[in-house]
Amino acid sequence: MEVLILPHHDATAVRAADIVEVQLRQKPSCTLGLATGSTPIALYNELIRRHRSNGLSFSQAASFNLDEYIGLDPTHPQSYRRFMNDKLFDHIDIPITATHVPNGLAENPLEEGPAYEAKIREAGGIDLQILGIGSDGHIGFNEPTSSLGSRTRIKTLTEQTITDNSRFFEAGEAQPHLAITMGIKTIMESKRILLLATGEGKAEAIAATVEGAITAMCPASILQWHEKTTILIDEAAASKLQKRDYYQWVSTQQDALVRKYRPSDLPEGL
Ligand code: F6R
Repeated sequence: MEVLILPHHDATAVRAADIVEVQLRQKPSCTLGLATGSTPIALYNELIRRHRSNGLSFSQAASFNLDEYIGLDPTHPQSYRRFMNDKLFDHIDIPITATHVPNGLAENPLEEGPAYEAKIREAGGIDLQILGIGSDGHIGFNEPTSSLGSRTRIKTLTEQTITDNSRFFEAGEAQPHLAITMGIKTIMESKRILLLATGEGKAEAIAATVEGAITAMCPASILQWHEKTTILIDEAAASKLQKRDYYQWVSTQQDALVRKYRPSDLPEGL
């Protein structure tokens, strides 16, 4: 795992946008895996800015989102389809037909998972998957104890996740307790993974992910097994890591190597 620690949330968003930009420039027809939640909003804002000011284009790209609430209409303010349209898709040039979010209103929700898996396979798999992380270590809606070999399917949300996400719902509004989520195995098949986390509330989950044992009790810990994962965090989210100084040192070495031997991995203009 590569662990990049930057001073604050906005700096992580710029660095994450660099990684997405390089992916798009190297393979304009790439498939992006996308997340919702508060963490990636700054990244999406930065991508919109680069699209408008620097001509960063998504016109040949496709996307697959991690998850969707069961029972919410795509136009519902809290649906993840609506979130993605509002926060990203409506402001860039990705064809809306190339964007995919699990269907929370599928007639038979049990069939939606395998159907979504088939679409990802048809697209040739995910080139770059963006992830956030729950304070309990979940990725997508793969809650603690989710099978590390799971596929896209329905998950029952934990009390913790329901409480964490209640901030997005109006007081008294019904909040779904079920979601459809990409599975952990599905996520692990992505060619590259970029996990973003900021703030003290994520520090414990990040420590368990990076330095803990691989366990279904912290689903993100499986990323230790992935060939090309970057954990991009701010100082607050890094505050419980034991080997912080080592990760900083590795980044400096790595940056120097990329500049010298693989400058194509740097965003334009650097
Ligand atoms: C959302 C998702 C979730 C979030 C996680 C963190 O699509 O997959 O795993 O990434 O709950 O959410 P925030 O960023 O709101 O802290």
